Amino acid sequence: MAVAGCTGGGVQGMPGAAGLRDPYFPKAGNGGYDAVHYGLTLDYAPGSGKLTGTAEITATAQQALSSFHLDLDGMDVDSVDVDGKGARFSRSGQELVVRPADDLAKGRTFRTVVHYSGVPKTVEDPDGSEEGWIETDDGALAVGEPVGSMAWFPGNHHPADKAAYDVAITVPRGYEAVSNGVLKSRTENGGHTSFRWHSAEPMASYLATLAIGRYTVRTTTADNKAGVPVYTAVTPGLAKKAGPVLDRIPEVVAWGAGRFGPYPFAATGAIVERDGALGYALETQTRPLFAGAPDVDLLVHELAHQWFGDSVTPRTWKDMWLNEGFATYAEWLWEEDHGGLTAQERFDAFYDEDTEADPEADGDYWAFPPADPPGPEHISDDPVYYRGAMVLHKIRQAAGDKAFFAMVRGWTADHRHANASTEEFTAYAERATGRDLSEVWDVWLRGDGKPDER
Ligand code: TRP
Ligand code: ZN
Repeated sequence: MAVAGCTGGGVQGMPGAAGLRDPYFPKAGNGGYDAVHYGLTLDYAPGSGKLTGTAEITATAQQALSSFHLDLDGMDVDSVDVDGKGARFSRSGQELVVRPADDLAKGRTFRTVVHYSGVPKTVEDPDGSEEGWIETDDGALAVGEPVGSMAWFPGNHHPADKAAYDVAITVPRGYEAVSNGVLKSRTENGGHTSFRWHSAEPMASYLATLAIGRYTVRTTTADNKAGVPVYTAVTPGLAKKAGPVLDRIPEVVAWGAGRFGPYPFAATGAIVERDGALGYALETQTRPLFAGAPDVDLLVHELAHQWFGDSVTPRTWKDMWLNEGFATYAEWLWEEDHGGLTAQERFDAFYDEDTEADPEADGDYWAFPPADPPGPEHISDDPVYYRGAMVLHKIRQAAGDKAFFAMVRGWTADHRHANASTEEFTAYAERATGRDLSEVWDVWLRGDGKPDER
């Protein structure tokens, strides 16, 4: 770029990049700064579907900036301030371009305040599933994987830039509003109820959630097997069906801590929406979201994601198998530890495509190598889940149980609350187990088609 604005402050910045060049979602996220905290103050009117918000984004400039981008898909922006001064802004597709009054020096921590409103949109994924903002019979859900969170707040919407969050949400009295982390306060005034949610641990924006509805809420103190408070919200009518499964959250979290290392967050729980409100479950941080009462395996899957995906977050969307392979393998391990098939038996069923042993073992997972989905529409396909789990089992076979589980716990400790790539994982697994695992990588992780030998 040629000349950027020269200002009285003496700093001469350059525009921050419009995207982080993710191999599947190149425009997701933005360059030139690192978001450290989001403060969202929101008001939702279920009748009109209108969301009114203020987003305060604290970030550090990684270069001198004359302008920078936020991602926001839809909504009307009323004003933008940077460090208390009105900033110029423009919009182009999902990019909200902000030009502060003064250029920002490299290393400077700055605060951007965006006032915005509108009816947030539902985004269709490349694979045809729905995300972003989903209206339900009695409220709404915000779900962000992979790029839906830009439908409801402006930000650096790529998993590589994790940040702390405070979400304040006001809804009409009679509604509950659930987000991630710890509930700091719930206050009723006049016809409204306000909730203040706090996530101290860094969170990727795709894991941020908001669930508004007439939920039945249950809470516990930290005095349970998980050692952290449990907060569950269940849509009316499903409380009875979901109750016995959700009662097992502390047990599942404690089991996960034994297998994968200390539970990474200050709270846990679940949100259970109506059957069919969403076509999938999502591992929203501290509080996975289900459409319909989950069974124990699905609960285990989404809670396992708290370690794999939420605490250790993929560096790019190409590293998705690190999320889904581990969460699927967690289901196999849970079964192994609770009188079901062993992981070896499950692995064999998948190799043999034995759908009697496991209905999911239909062979669809040979379509491509887990570390190389052929496009963004394939990042949630079977190879990423099942063949991803098979990769982990191959490491376990090569290393033995003791070294394998020590490696897994070391991995979650080393990358706790951070990001990791496939290359970092393969290098770490070899180092931690002391094995040359190149055949596992060449054949199972990166090779085309069904491996010749199990
Ligand atoms: N990551 C979710 C899980 O494994 C599933 C999921 C989220 C999904 N978004 C999706 C699956 C979109 C298909 C399409 O629990
Ligand atoms: Zn998953």
